[in-house]
Amino acid sequence: MCDGMSAFLRLVIFVAFNGLQALQITQLSVPRWIENGTQESVTLDCVYNFTYEDDHLVVKWFHNDDPKPIYQWIPELGSRLVSEKLQGRIDMNSSTTPSTNFTQYRSLRILKPTSQLSGKYSCHVTSFNGLDTAEKEMTVYAPAKFLRFNYTKTTSDKAKFGCEVDQVYPIPDIDVFQTSPGASEHTVITDKETEVFHQEYSYKVSVTYEVDDSELSPDGATRFDCFVSFPGTNYQRLSSINYYPECQSILEIDQSRNIITDI
Ligand SMILES: *[C@@H]1O[C@H](CO)[C@@H](O)[C@H](O)[C@H]1NC(C)=O
Ligand SMILES: *[C@@H]1O[C@H](CO)[C@@H](O)[C@H](O)[C@H]1NC(C)=O
Ligand SMILES: *[C@@H]1O[C@H](CO)[C@@H](O)[C@H](O)[C@H]1NC(C)=O
Ligand SMILES: *[C@@H]1O[C@H](CO)[C@@H](O)[C@H](O)[C@H]1NC(C)=O
Ligand SMILES: *[C@@H]1O[C@H](CO)[C@@H](O)[C@H](O)[C@H]1NC(C)=O
Repeated sequence: MCDGMSAFLRLVIFVAFNGLQALQITQLSVPRWIENGTQESVTLDCVYNFTYEDDHLVVKWFHNDDPKPIYQWIPELGSRLVSEKLQGRIDMNSSTTPSTNFTQYRSLRILKPTSQLSGKYSCHVTSFNGLDTAEKEMTVYAPAKFLRFNYTKTTSDKAKFGCEVDQVYPIPDIDVFQTSPGASEHTVITDKETEVFHQEYSYKVSVTYEVDDSELSPDGATRFDCFVSFPGTNYQRLSSINYYPECQSILEIDQSRNIITDI
């Protein structure tokens, strides 16, 4: 009876105590953007406030919605597992510094990160004392292998413009602008078509639009710009074309000259 009571009291005290001091992730560091093929490694870290009241600590990392952890560490068992997907991509030698037996192998040092390792990373920490999870997105962006901006006359007074990037990851923003001769401000061309082609771990993206010469100023070149960027990074590329619309009066002169030549 007396033992039962004290066990109950201990439980109440235990629950109250643990309610206040649950294991929590205090910091998750995952870089938002890194450039493909430029980093020797990237370290994702999951900082939690472990205390010795915690028992049976398990640290897991997940990638996207894969239900299998990509990495799992159980300090008490000295066990560390890496999923098949990341086999050879994780540096098993790296450890946090300074470290204790319960923080040593919590981080994930990914070697030579590439675009296919982009996505959501979540850290799950559990112990007898609680459970906490945190997640962040990382994108390993790949600059376009090339940017082509060109046009073809479709009729005597119309032109089709195309701006294309290849082997890029993820899908970048592609904006096209028009600047009238002598103007300092550009206007955004919204009447455009965007096509996305999926390739293995990259994209080809093409933006096209049509220009009607009669809507352009006849007084010189209209400048068209194609601007490619990953918002959130410094990456941006620009290609410009100076376009001269067909001038009706010159056509007439040409025609009359032709007629004269024919005679
Ligand atoms: C962990 O941090 C959280 C938030 O700062 C705090 O509420 C909790 O009491 C801390 N737990 C321990 C065991 O220190
Ligand atoms: C990313 O970098 C790797 C290694 O440098 C390269 O093989 C791969 O083609 C790159 N991916 C893209 C989408 O450019
Ligand atoms: C880890 O350490 C082992 C043994 O010292 C070494 O052979 C291996 O190359 C190291 N791996 C990395 C990724 O540094
Ligand atoms: C840390 O782990 C080592 C090896 O398992 C053990 O000898 C040592 O006592 C542990 N330290 C603490 C503070 O638990
Ligand atoms: C741009 O050039 C490519 C390669 O010459 C061509 O296939 C494409 O049709 C051109 N696009 C336009 C809009 O002229």
